[in-house]
Amino acid sequence: MPDLSLLPTSAVIDGADLRIGGYSLTEIAMEFGTPVFVFDEQQLRARARSFLDGLTSRHARGRVCFATKSFPSASMVAVLAGEGLGLDVVGAGELRLGLAGGADPNSIVMHGNAKSDADIEMALDAGIGYIVVDGFDDIDRISAFARRRTPVLLRVSPGIESSTHAALATGGKGSKFGVPVEQVPEAIARMRAAPMIDLRGLHAHIGSQITDLEQFEAEVAALATLGKFDVYDLGGGLGVRYEPGDVAPDIDEYLERLVAAVHEHLGEDIELIVEPGRSVVAPAGITLYRILTIKHAGRMHVAVDGGMGDNLEYPLYGQRFTPLVVGRWDEPEVLADLVGRHCESGDVVTPDVRLAGPRIGDLVVVPVTGAYCFTMANNYNGALRPPVVYCADGRARLGVRRETPDEQLAREVGLLASARRAD
Ligand SMILES: Cc1ncc(COP(=O)(O)O)c(C=O)c1O
Repeated sequence: MPDLSLLPTSAVIDGADLRIGGYSLTEIAMEFGTPVFVFDEQQLRARARSFLDGLTSRHARGRVCFATKSFPSASMVAVLAGEGLGLDVVGAGELRLGLAGGADPNSIVMHGNAKSDADIEMALDAGIGYIVVDGFDDIDRISAFARRRTPVLLRVSPGIESSTHAALATGGKGSKFGVPVEQVPEAIARMRAAPMIDLRGLHAHIGSQITDLEQFEAEVAALATLGKFDVYDLGGGLGVRYEPGDVAPDIDEYLERLVAAVHEHLGEDIELIVEPGRSVVAPAGITLYRILTIKHAGRMHVAVDGGMGDNLEYPLYGQRFTPLVVGRWDEPEVLADLVGRHCESGDVVTPDVRLAGPRIGDLVVVPVTGAYCFTMANNYNGALRPPVVYCADGRARLGVRRETPDEQLAREVGLLASARRAD
């Protein structure tokens, strides 16, 4: 029998089928098609509560703001805000999704290393909790648009080289994010002199998929050298397991160490914000594909009906996954590259992976795809972006429907003009 430990907690084998939240994946494929993102809704809710209860039981002024970028859908916001999470949004687009999902504006923190006027204006109009000043230009922009004193945090780049993929590290020297430590005094002075800016505290985020908790402790210690503030937003970054051999701290271990470091270095009365993304949503989500072709060309290629159009994790970061062929539980395994249907050799979901008895038409589950897959879904080769389905209590609920061919053509202005000319 396969290792189910990477699947959502409610996953159970049911003969040749697999159920999530009590609902059959075979039926999901029939009702909603493939590829499709499927979530265990109870697990999402449980993880959100673990963060919120785990933080507030250790630190009274604690806030958990879900990093919307990891799954930017109003349907996801509705689930997580319903459990009491606030939001971290980047720019007007994520703010719009957050508000549409019912998030309380006051619980929202806006980031962005290059905010536009429109981002700042929308944040001000919505009256969000904090705008994070990412550089000197943000001070000018907020000053230009704000009509009342606006609570802000200053993003600091603490010079911590986190042990994650280079593209996911954000707190090191030379980062495009935040203000380097040596420029912090000047940034603070500029903000204190700006009548419309109310500097409440500091923010740092050192990177994503971090499993070494010492790095978060180092982040806290680095912030403590920059003065005393009422608010500290420590970002997200907690890593998760993608393969059976991976080790990642759980939410409680992370919060225990983080809050202990905060109490030691920053104090017990401060407002403490964390912004988890991946660690809330990744383990609760899977992608369901169907196998389209199998080739033996020096190596075995098992090709599914998605790929780079819905999962860029391997091409961008080398992130490997642990796929399962639904229903072939006890069949002999083959070593294959699980590839997509897009037009380049880099279109790989995971190379060199063991798959049990794959055949054309079989369903393949790729676990731990709840974060950073949907958000980067694209129209490569005219792909239509996949739907999102939430399963709980034996029911499946569509959160986002599949993009339609009409939507694909709707933005083609030239096409409409030539069609008019033809009339
Ligand atoms: C400012 C900020 N906060 C939070 C996050 C969420 O990180 P993660 O999904 O690793 O928890 C990110 C993502 O990189 C980020 O840039």
